[in-house]
Amino acid sequence: MSELSPQAMPNHVAVIMDGNGRWAEQRGLPRSDGHRAGVDAVREIVRAADDLGIGFLTLYAFSTENWNRPKTEVDLLMKLPEEYFEQELPDVIQRGCRIRSIGQRDRLPPNVRRCLDDAVTRTQDGTGLQLVFALSYGGRGEIVEAARRLLREQEAGRFDADGLDEKVFASYLDEPELPDVDLLIRTGGERRVSNFLLWQIAYAELLVSECMWPDFGRAELTAALADYQQRERRFGKTSAQLPGATR
Ligand code: FPP
Repeated sequence: MSELSPQAMPNHVAVIMDGNGRWAEQRGLPRSDGHRAGVDAVREIVRAADDLGIGFLTLYAFSTENWNRPKTEVDLLMKLPEEYFEQELPDVIQRGCRIRSIGQRDRLPPNVRRCLDDAVTRTQDGTGLQLVFALSYGGRGEIVEAARRLLREQEAGRFDADGLDEKVFASYLDEPELPDVDLLIRTGGERRVSNFLLWQIAYAELLVSECMWPDFGRAELTAALADYQQRERRFGKTSAQLPGATR
């Protein structure tokens, strides 16, 4: 932690939590054990992100494509949010974190909607870490849904196409207050974006960790942040145009 600069922390870190299944297989355990160990890693990363002063942490907990997994695995994955909130909500509240969610809420089973709504309501005044769960989430779907909301506004005569720009469009996304992602971490070694936050990752720094998600803890997050802080973010400019450039 000591080598990190608090002034240069990414405001928004997003994580594709991959590798639960392989973590379990490597140990001769069922995949369900990998997902349960994944919840422990969520607990540790949330605490670490809050301690380190990160503004937003978005976790890809279940993609729209994950509905195609075997029913037993989907059923297990749909139990995890409830288990996490039951154990962790008191700590999350005490820390002043605020929970939000993105994704197709209507497709989630009632128990998940209930515990999410409860967590969102009970943390709504939290001004600390903004913790976003992406559940039944897909980036393309989110963009299409935003377009649908916008078209409905237009049909109702409340929106003029000439008023459309990127900022206005972003305000129709699932969570309008979600800022651009600064650092996108993918665990498990695969080099894919997998339909995650397609709008918000436009200028994100990418970091692929070989670590399987259940093994990704405070030390690995700290290393990822140290790597991020070494990078020069130019947003299309030249190095010489950046603040502090000497040439
Ligand atoms: C991908 O790993 C992981 C998932 C589809 C589920 C991620 C869920 C968690 C980490 C727990 C969520 C916790 C809360 C609190 C909602 P994989 O199973 O595809 O791994 P593999 O690529 O090794 O098979």
